Amino acid sequence: MSIIPPIQFKDDELILLDQRKLPNEEVLVKCKTLQEGYTAIKDMVVRGAPCIGFTGIFTLALWIKNNSEFNFTEFSSAASFLIEARPTAVNLKYEVDTVLSLLMGVKEKDKAYDLVVNYGHEQIIKSEKNNRMMSENVFKHLRELKPQDKYNILTHCNTGFLACGSIGTALGVIQVMHESNAINMVYADETRPYLQGSRLTAYELGKLGIKHKVVVEGCASYLMKNKLIDAIVVGADRIARNGDTANKIGTSNLSIIAKHYGIPFYVVAPTNSFDVKTNDGSTIEIELREEEEILNYKEYRIAPKTSQALNPSFDITDGSLITGISNENGIFHAPYDFKENI
Ligand code: MRU
Repeated sequence: MSIIPPIQFKDDELILLDQRKLPNEEVLVKCKTLQEGYTAIKDMVVRGAPCIGFTGIFTLALWIKNNSEFNFTEFSSAASFLIEARPTAVNLKYEVDTVLSLLMGVKEKDKAYDLVVNYGHEQIIKSEKNNRMMSENVFKHLRELKPQDKYNILTHCNTGFLACGSIGTALGVIQVMHESNAINMVYADETRPYLQGSRLTAYELGKLGIKHKVVVEGCASYLMKNKLIDAIVVGADRIARNGDTANKIGTSNLSIIAKHYGIPFYVVAPTNSFDVKTNDGSTIEIELREEEEILNYKEYRIAPKTSQALNPSFDITDGSLITGISNENGIFHAPYDFKENI
Protein backbone atom coordinates (compact mmCIF):
# COMPACT_ATOMS: atom_id res chain seq x y z
CA MET A 1 0.00 0.00 0.00
CA SER A 2 1.57 3.33 -1.01
CA ILE A 3 0.28 6.30 0.91
CA ILE A 4 1.35 9.83 -0.02
CA PRO A 5 1.45 12.03 3.10
CA PRO A 6 -1.05 14.90 2.86
CA ILE A 7 1.51 17.33 4.37
CA GLN A 8 5.30 17.40 4.11
CA PHE A 9 7.70 20.16 5.08
CA LYS A 10 11.09 19.77 3.41
CA ASP A 11 13.82 22.18 2.31
CA ASP A 12 11.83 25.24 3.44
CA GLU A 13 8.81 24.21 1.40
CA LEU A 14 5.35 23.08 2.41
CA ILE A 15 4.25 20.27 0.12
CA LEU A 16 0.58 19.34 0.10
CA LEU A 17 -1.22 16.51 -1.65
CA ASP A 18 -3.97 18.26 -3.62
CA GLN A 19 -7.11 16.68 -2.15
CA ARG A 20 -9.31 18.42 -4.73
CA LYS A 21 -7.88 16.13 -7.40
CA LEU A 22 -8.22 12.82 -5.55
CA PRO A 23 -8.87 10.00 -6.21
CA ASN A 24 -8.11 10.33 -9.91
CA GLU A 25 -4.86 12.26 -9.73
CA GLU A 26 -2.19 12.38 -7.00
CA VAL A 27 -0.77 15.87 -7.48
CA LEU A 28 1.54 17.73 -5.09
CA VAL A 29 1.22 21.48 -4.52
CA LYS A 30 4.16 23.49 -3.16
CA CYS A 31 3.64 26.50 -0.90
CA LYS A 32 6.40 29.00 -0.19
CA THR A 33 4.54 31.97 1.30
CA LEU A 34 1.91 32.82 3.92
CA GLN A 35 -0.53 33.70 1.14
CA GLU A 36 0.01 30.36 -0.60
CA GLY A 37 -0.54 28.43 2.65
CA TYR A 38 -3.66 30.51 3.40
CA THR A 39 -5.09 29.86 -0.08
CA ALA A 40 -4.33 26.13 0.14
CA ILE A 41 -6.36 25.93 3.36
CA LYS A 42 -9.20 28.14 2.08
CA ASP A 43 -9.48 26.36 -1.28
CA MET A 44 -9.27 22.96 0.43
CA VAL A 45 -6.11 21.68 -1.23
CA VAL A 46 -5.65 20.44 2.34
CA ARG A 47 -8.59 19.89 4.67
CA GLY A 48 -9.78 18.07 7.79
CA ALA A 49 -9.43 19.81 11.13
CA PRO A 50 -6.06 18.34 12.27
CA CYS A 51 -4.36 18.78 8.88
CA ILE A 52 -5.64 22.35 8.64
CA GLY A 53 -3.94 22.96 12.01
CA PHE A 54 -0.63 21.35 10.92
CA THR A 55 -0.68 23.34 7.67
CA GLY A 56 -1.21 26.48 9.74
CA ILE A 57 1.97 25.79 11.74
CA PHE A 58 4.14 25.29 8.65
CA THR A 59 2.58 28.29 6.91
CA LEU A 60 3.73 30.44 9.84
CA ALA A 61 7.22 28.99 9.42
CA LEU A 62 7.12 30.15 5.78
CA TRP A 63 6.23 33.65 6.93
CA ILE A 64 9.26 33.68 9.24
CA LYS A 65 11.53 32.42 6.44
CA ASN A 66 10.37 35.14 4.04
CA ASN A 67 10.96 38.06 6.42
CA SER A 68 14.44 39.44 6.94
CA GLU A 69 13.87 39.89 10.69
CA PHE A 70 11.52 38.33 13.22
CA ASN A 71 9.10 40.97 14.46
CA PHE A 72 6.55 39.51 16.89
CA THR A 73 3.89 42.19 16.30
CA GLU A 74 3.96 41.67 12.53
CA PHE A 75 4.03 37.92 13.07
CA SER A 76 0.87 38.18 15.22
CA SER A 77 -0.94 40.03 12.39
CA ALA A 78 0.06 37.30 9.94
CA ALA A 79 -1.24 34.72 12.43
CA SER A 80 -4.61 36.53 12.76
CA PHE A 81 -4.92 36.64 8.98
CA LEU A 82 -4.23 32.91 8.71
CA ILE A 83 -6.93 31.94 11.23
CA GLU A 84 -9.55 33.46 8.94
CA ALA A 85 -8.85 30.91 6.17
CA ARG A 86 -11.35 28.45 7.68
CA PRO A 87 -13.15 29.53 10.84
CA THR A 88 -15.04 26.47 12.13
CA ALA A 89 -12.28 23.95 12.88
CA VAL A 90 -10.75 25.16 16.15
CA ASN A 91 -7.52 23.22 15.46
CA LEU A 92 -6.21 26.03 13.24
CA LYS A 93 -6.71 28.61 16.00
CA TYR A 94 -5.30 26.20 18.59
CA GLU A 95 -2.09 25.62 16.62
CA VAL A 96 -1.65 29.29 15.71
CA ASP A 97 -2.16 30.33 19.36
CA THR A 98 0.31 27.66 20.50
CA VAL A 99 2.93 28.90 18.01
CA LEU A 100 2.39 32.47 19.26
CA SER A 101 2.99 31.43 22.86
CA LEU A 102 6.01 29.36 21.81
CA LEU A 103 7.61 32.42 20.19
CA MET A 104 6.83 34.89 22.94
CA GLY A 105 10.11 36.66 23.75
CA VAL A 106 12.02 35.08 20.83
CA LYS A 107 14.02 37.68 18.89
CA GLU A 108 16.10 35.71 16.39
CA LYS A 109 14.59 34.70 13.10
CA ASP A 110 16.48 31.39 12.76
CA LYS A 111 15.53 30.33 16.27
CA ALA A 112 11.87 31.20 15.66
CA TYR A 113 11.87 29.27 12.39
CA ASP A 114 13.44 26.14 13.91
CA LEU A 115 11.04 26.19 16.87
CA VAL A 116 8.00 26.36 14.58
CA VAL A 117 9.17 23.72 12.10
CA ASN A 118 10.10 21.31 14.91
CA TYR A 119 6.77 21.91 16.64
CA GLY A 120 4.92 21.11 13.39
CA HIS A 121 6.75 17.81 12.94
CA GLU A 122 6.22 16.90 16.61
CA GLN A 123 2.48 17.51 16.36
CA ILE A 124 2.12 15.19 13.38
CA ILE A 125 4.15 12.46 15.08
CA LYS A 126 2.20 12.85 18.34
CA SER A 127 -1.12 12.57 16.51
CA GLU A 128 -0.36 9.00 15.39
CA LYS A 129 -0.25 7.73 19.00
CA ASN A 130 -3.14 9.93 20.12
CA ASN A 131 -5.39 8.89 17.24
CA ARG A 132 -4.78 5.26 18.02
CA MET A 133 -5.68 5.76 21.70
CA MET A 134 -8.94 7.58 20.97
CA SER A 135 -9.85 4.96 18.37
CA GLU A 136 -9.21 2.07 20.76
CA ASN A 137 -11.45 3.73 23.37
CA VAL A 138 -14.37 3.65 20.95
CA PHE A 139 -13.80 0.07 19.85
CA LYS A 140 -13.63 -1.09 23.47
CA HIS A 141 -16.82 0.78 24.36
CA LEU A 142 -18.70 -0.57 21.34
CA ARG A 143 -17.58 -4.14 22.08
CA GLU A 144 -18.97 -3.83 25.62
CA LEU A 145 -22.18 -2.17 24.48
CA LYS A 146 -22.83 -4.56 21.58
CA PRO A 147 -20.68 -7.69 21.83
CA GLN A 148 -20.36 -9.34 18.39
CA ASP A 149 -17.57 -10.58 16.11
CA LYS A 150 -17.97 -8.15 13.23
CA TYR A 151 -19.57 -4.77 12.76
CA ASN A 152 -21.11 -2.66 10.03
CA ILE A 153 -20.00 0.93 10.45
CA LEU A 154 -21.36 4.11 8.86
CA THR A 155 -19.10 7.16 8.61
CA HIS A 156 -19.44 10.66 7.23
CA CYS A 157 -17.00 13.03 5.53
CA ASN A 158 -13.31 12.10 5.68
CA THR A 159 -11.40 11.58 8.89
CA GLY A 160 -8.47 9.37 7.91
CA PHE A 161 -4.83 10.06 7.07
CA LEU A 162 -5.79 12.74 4.53
CA ALA A 163 -7.56 14.73 7.26
CA CYS A 164 -5.21 13.89 10.14
CA GLY A 165 -1.77 13.07 8.73
CA SER A 166 -1.92 9.79 10.69
CA ILE A 167 -4.36 6.90 11.13
CA GLY A 168 -7.20 9.32 11.71
CA THR A 169 -10.03 9.77 14.16
CA ALA A 170 -13.29 8.11 13.05
CA LEU A 171 -11.35 6.33 10.32
CA GLY A 172 -8.81 5.41 12.99
CA VAL A 173 -11.60 3.52 14.78
CA ILE A 174 -12.35 1.68 11.55
CA GLN A 175 -8.65 0.87 11.03
CA VAL A 176 -8.24 -0.39 14.60
CA MET A 177 -11.34 -2.59 14.17
CA HIS A 178 -10.04 -3.82 10.82
CA GLU A 179 -6.72 -4.80 12.45
CA SER A 180 -8.78 -6.96 14.86
CA ASN A 181 -10.73 -8.46 11.95
CA ALA A 182 -13.90 -6.85 13.38
CA ILE A 183 -15.19 -5.04 10.29
CA ASN A 184 -17.89 -6.60 8.16
CA MET A 185 -18.65 -3.54 6.03
CA VAL A 186 -18.00 0.20 6.11
CA TYR A 187 -20.58 2.49 4.56
CA ALA A 188 -18.97 5.77 3.48
CA ASP A 189 -21.57 8.36 2.72
CA GLU A 190 -20.84 10.64 -0.21
CA THR A 191 -20.83 13.88 1.83
CA ARG A 192 -22.24 16.49 -0.46
CA PRO A 193 -21.21 18.84 -1.91
CA TYR A 194 -17.45 18.26 -1.73
CA LEU A 195 -17.72 14.46 -1.81
CA GLN A 196 -15.15 13.84 0.91
CA GLY A 197 -16.85 10.45 1.45
CA SER A 198 -16.96 9.09 -2.09
CA ARG A 199 -13.67 10.63 -3.21
CA LEU A 200 -11.46 10.60 -0.10
CA THR A 201 -12.79 8.10 2.45
CA ALA A 202 -13.35 5.50 -0.27
CA TYR A 203 -9.80 6.20 -1.55
CA GLU A 204 -8.36 5.66 1.93
CA LEU A 205 -10.44 2.55 2.65
CA GLY A 206 -9.31 1.14 -0.70
CA LYS A 207 -5.64 1.78 0.15
CA LEU A 208 -6.16 0.12 3.54
CA GLY A 209 -7.92 -2.88 1.97
CA ILE A 210 -11.09 -2.36 4.02
CA LYS A 211 -14.40 -3.58 2.56
CA HIS A 212 -16.66 -0.62 1.89
CA LYS A 213 -19.61 0.70 -0.04
CA VAL A 214 -20.30 4.30 -0.96
CA VAL A 215 -23.87 5.41 -0.22
CA VAL A 216 -25.75 8.66 -0.71
CA GLU A 217 -26.46 10.60 2.46
CA GLY A 218 -30.20 10.07 2.00
CA CYS A 219 -29.56 6.35 2.51
CA ALA A 220 -28.92 6.71 6.25
CA SER A 221 -32.46 5.99 7.41
CA TYR A 222 -32.78 3.06 4.97
CA LEU A 223 -29.56 1.53 6.30
CA MET A 224 -30.49 1.92 9.95
CA LYS A 225 -34.10 0.78 9.57
CA ASN A 226 -32.90 -2.35 7.78
CA LYS A 227 -30.40 -3.10 10.58
CA LEU A 228 -27.42 -2.69 8.28
CA ILE A 229 -25.55 -0.39 10.69
CA ASP A 230 -24.16 -1.32 14.13
CA ALA A 231 -22.53 2.02 14.93
CA ILE A 232 -21.77 5.43 13.46
CA VAL A 233 -18.37 7.09 13.90
CA VAL A 234 -17.59 10.68 12.90
CA GLY A 235 -14.88 13.27 13.59
CA ALA A 236 -15.24 16.83 14.83
CA ASP A 237 -14.16 20.32 13.91
CA ARG A 238 -15.00 21.90 17.26
CA ILE A 239 -16.50 20.48 20.44
CA ALA A 240 -18.09 22.88 22.93
CA ARG A 241 -18.00 22.51 26.71
CA ASN A 242 -21.43 20.77 26.73
CA GLY A 243 -20.50 18.29 23.99
CA ASP A 244 -22.28 20.08 21.13
CA THR A 245 -20.15 19.18 18.13
CA ALA A 246 -19.51 21.06 14.90
CA ASN A 247 -18.73 18.64 12.11
CA LYS A 248 -19.35 18.32 8.38
CA ILE A 249 -22.85 19.33 7.30
CA GLY A 250 -25.13 16.29 7.59
CA THR A 251 -23.59 14.96 10.81
CA SER A 252 -26.47 16.26 12.91
CA ASN A 253 -29.01 14.53 10.60
CA LEU A 254 -27.20 11.23 11.17
CA SER A 255 -27.25 11.64 14.95
CA ILE A 256 -31.02 12.27 14.95
CA ILE A 257 -31.74 9.21 12.79
CA ALA A 258 -29.37 7.14 14.94
CA LYS A 259 -31.27 8.17 18.08
CA HIS A 260 -34.55 7.10 16.45
CA TYR A 261 -33.21 3.63 15.62
CA GLY A 262 -31.12 3.21 18.79
CA ILE A 263 -27.77 3.07 16.97
CA PRO A 264 -24.63 4.12 18.93
CA PHE A 265 -23.20 7.38 17.60
CA TYR A 266 -19.57 8.25 18.44
CA VAL A 267 -17.50 11.41 17.97
CA VAL A 268 -13.73 10.93 17.85
CA ALA A 269 -11.37 13.93 18.05
CA PRO A 270 -8.07 15.03 19.60
CA THR A 271 -8.09 17.36 22.63
CA ASN A 272 -7.13 20.30 20.41
CA SER A 273 -10.54 20.00 18.70
CA PHE A 274 -12.18 20.90 22.04
CA ASP A 275 -13.14 24.50 22.69
CA VAL A 276 -14.13 24.55 26.35
CA LYS A 277 -14.42 28.36 26.38
CA THR A 278 -17.48 27.95 24.16
CA ASN A 279 -20.35 26.80 26.35
CA ASP A 280 -22.53 25.29 23.63
CA GLY A 281 -22.85 24.99 19.87
CA SER A 282 -25.02 28.08 19.38
CA THR A 283 -22.04 30.47 19.14
CA ILE A 284 -19.77 28.34 16.96
CA GLU A 285 -19.12 30.13 13.66
CA ILE A 286 -20.30 28.00 10.76
CA GLU A 287 -18.30 28.52 7.58
CA LEU A 288 -20.49 29.42 4.60
CA ARG A 289 -18.86 28.36 1.34
CA GLU A 290 -19.35 29.35 -2.28
CA GLU A 291 -22.79 28.72 -3.79
CA GLU A 292 -21.09 27.30 -6.90
CA GLU A 293 -19.99 24.22 -4.93
CA ILE A 294 -23.67 23.21 -4.90
CA LEU A 295 -25.00 24.74 -8.12
CA ASN A 296 -22.23 23.24 -10.29
CA TYR A 297 -20.57 19.87 -10.53
CA LYS A 298 -16.97 20.84 -11.36
CA GLU A 299 -17.39 23.12 -14.40
CA TYR A 300 -20.84 21.75 -15.28
CA ARG A 301 -23.89 23.71 -14.14
CA ILE A 302 -26.50 21.38 -12.65
CA ALA A 303 -29.00 23.89 -11.18
CA PRO A 304 -30.94 26.44 -13.25
CA LYS A 305 -28.86 29.53 -14.02
CA THR A 306 -31.24 31.68 -11.97
CA SER A 307 -31.08 29.52 -8.80
CA GLN A 308 -29.19 30.51 -5.69
CA ALA A 309 -27.82 28.13 -3.04
CA LEU A 310 -27.06 28.10 0.66
CA ASN A 311 -23.87 26.22 1.50
CA PRO A 312 -23.11 25.91 5.23
CA SER A 313 -20.10 23.63 5.49
CA PHE A 314 -20.80 22.33 9.01
CA ASP A 315 -23.66 21.74 11.41
CA ILE A 316 -23.98 21.26 15.15
CA THR A 317 -24.86 17.89 16.65
CA ASP A 318 -26.45 18.15 20.09
CA GLY A 319 -24.19 16.66 22.75
CA SER A 320 -27.22 14.81 24.14
CA LEU A 321 -27.40 12.70 20.93
CA ILE A 322 -23.80 11.48 21.16
CA THR A 323 -23.21 8.05 22.77
CA GLY A 324 -19.55 8.82 23.46
CA ILE A 325 -16.96 11.48 22.70
CA SER A 326 -13.47 10.02 22.59
CA ASN A 327 -10.12 11.76 22.74
CA GLU A 328 -6.60 10.60 23.64
CA ASN A 329 -7.46 10.79 27.35
CA GLY A 330 -10.58 8.64 27.37
CA ILE A 331 -14.19 8.30 26.32
CA PHE A 332 -16.82 10.58 27.82
CA HIS A 333 -20.60 10.36 27.99
CA ALA A 334 -23.53 12.79 28.32
CA PRO A 335 -24.14 15.04 30.15
CA TYR A 336 -20.83 16.53 29.02
CA ASP A 337 -19.05 19.28 30.90
CA PHE A 338 -15.54 19.49 29.46
CA LYS A 339 -12.98 21.42 31.47
CA GLU A 340 -9.67 23.08 30.53
CA ASN A 341 -7.57 19.89 30.88
CA ILE A 342 -10.00 17.54 29.19
O1 MRU B 1 -14.56 20.69 5.12
P1 MRU B 1 -13.61 19.63 5.59
O2 MRU B 1 -13.38 18.56 4.57
O3 MRU B 1 -12.33 20.19 6.15
O4 MRU B 1 -14.39 18.96 6.78
C1 MRU B 1 -13.81 17.91 7.49
C2 MRU B 1 -14.68 17.37 8.53
O5 MRU B 1 -15.75 17.86 8.82
C3 MRU B 1 -14.12 16.26 9.32
O6 MRU B 1 -15.13 15.38 9.69
C4 MRU B 1 -13.49 16.87 10.57
O7 MRU B 1 -12.55 17.84 10.22
C5 MRU B 1 -12.82 15.88 11.40
S1 MRU B 1 -11.35 15.33 10.58
C6 MRU B 1 -10.58 14.35 11.65
